[in-house]
Amino acid sequence: MIERLAIEGYRSIRSLVVDLAPLTVVTGANGSGKSSLYRALRLLADCGEGRVVASLAAAGGLDAVRWAGPERGSRRGGATEGTVRGGPVSLRLGVATDALGYAIDLGLPVAQRSAFDLDPEIKQEHVFAGTDPRPAGVLVERTRGAARVATNGGWSELARGLHPWASVLDEFAGHAEAAELAGARRMLRGWRFHDAMRTDASAPARHPQVATRAARLDHDGANLAAVLQTAIEAGRDREVARAIDDAFPGSRLRLPMVDGRMRVALEQPRLLRPLDAVELSDGTLQYLLLTAALLSAETPGLIVLNEPERSLHAELVPALAERISRAAGETQVVVVTHHASLAEALGGAAGALRIALEKDAGETVVAGREGLLDQPAWRWPKR
Ligand SMILES: Nc1ncnc2c1ncn2[C@@H]1O[C@H](COP(=O)(O)OP(=O)(O)OP(=O)(O)O)[C@@H](O)[C@H]1O
Ligand SMILES: [Mg+2]
Repeated sequence: MIERLAIEGYRSIRSLVVDLAPLTVVTGANGSGKSSLYRALRLLADCGEGRVVASLAAAGGLDAVRWAGPERGSRRGGATEGTVRGGPVSLRLGVATDALGYAIDLGLPVAQRSAFDLDPEIKQEHVFAGTDPRPAGVLVERTRGAARVATNGGWSELARGLHPWASVLDEFAGHAEAAELAGARRMLRGWRFHDAMRTDASAPARHPQVATRAARLDHDGANLAAVLQTAIEAGRDREVARAIDDAFPGSRLRLPMVDGRMRVALEQPRLLRPLDAVELSDGTLQYLLLTAALLSAETPGLIVLNEPERSLHAELVPALAERISRAAGETQVVVVTHHASLAEALGGAAGALRIALEKDAGETVVAGREGLLDQPAWRWPKR
C-alpha cells in the first residue's frame, strides 16, 4: 500500500506531502489543486512506463507545468520571499509504500542545441526503503547519467551514460543486481486511473465489442461488456448483480452476443425488452463503467478515480460510494471529487481518510495544516 506521496514544483503545488490510506478522498474547491494532485500521480505512473519525459513534453514542457510562484513558501508565519529564483528548476515526485519507494527529480535541459526543447531531463532518481528517500534508506541512486546500487557498506556501479530522458526503472529493471528497480516499476505499473470516461452518444462503451477476456477496463471504456463478463466468469457474478440492483432496483445486466460481438444491455422492470447500451442514459453508462473499473477480474495495486460523480445523478451517489468502499477493502483507492455528498459518504467508510485541499497565496495546501511542520516527513535528496 502507498503510504506517502510527495510533490514539489508542479502546477499549483509548490511542496506537498500527504499520507494515503486504504481509501483516500481528496476534496477541495474549484482551483484548489485536486487535478494537479491527480496528474502528479499519473506522471509517477508514467515513470513506470518509461514515458514521463514524453508526457511532460506533451503538456508543453517543464516551463508550462512547473510551479509559477516563488520557491519559498508564503505560508502563514513566513514572509513572502525569494521572488527571484535561486536554485535550479526542479519538478520532484515521490511515492513510498511500507516496503519500497521511488523519487524522481526532473529539470530543464543543460544548454545544448536540440530541436527537443520541451523535453525535460531526468536529473535524479532514487529507489529506497522506508517512507522517504533519506540517504540511509537509498537502494538505487541515479544522478544524471550514472546509476549505482547500494551494497553491503558501499556502492556498485550499475550504469554510466544513461540518456537524460531514460528512466533507470525502464533501462535496468531486469538487472539481477537491482531487484528493487523491478519492484518499484511493478508498483507504478499496477496503478489504474479512471478519468472522464466517455458516455456521449457515440461513446465506445455503447458499441458492440470483440468478445475477448479483459481483466481491466480500457481508458475509453471500449471493452465494458468484456470486462463485466470476465468479472462474472471469475466468480464476481453476485457482486455485479448487486451493483446493478443497488443502483437500478429490479434491473438485471445482460451481456448478449449479437453477430459475434458482445453488447451491454440492461433489463429493467416494466420494459418489454432489455435496453441496449446505445439507449442507456449517460449517468447509467457512467455507473456501469465505474462498476467495471471497480469490480474487474484483476485487482490492481491502486485505483485512482478523478471526479467519478461526473454526469451521475445524485440518486446514484450512494450506490457508487458503496462500490468504492467495497473496492477499498480489496485494494487501495484514491478518489478525487468535489461532490460533497460523495465525499461525505466515503469519508465515513472504515479506513477512509479525507484530504481537503485549499489555495493559500496561490499555492495548494492541505486545509488545517498550520505550516510545513505539519507535513509528514520527506527529505528530498540533494542534487
Ligand atoms: N504552473 C502553475 N503554477 C501555479 N499555479 C498553477 C499552475 N498551473 C495551474 N495553476 C493553478 O492551479 C490551480 C489548481 O488547478 P487544478 O486544475 O488542480 O484545480 P482543481 O482543484 O482540480 O479544480 P476543479 O475543481 O475546477 O477541477 C488553478 O487555480 C490553476 O490556476
Ligand atoms: Mg479538477
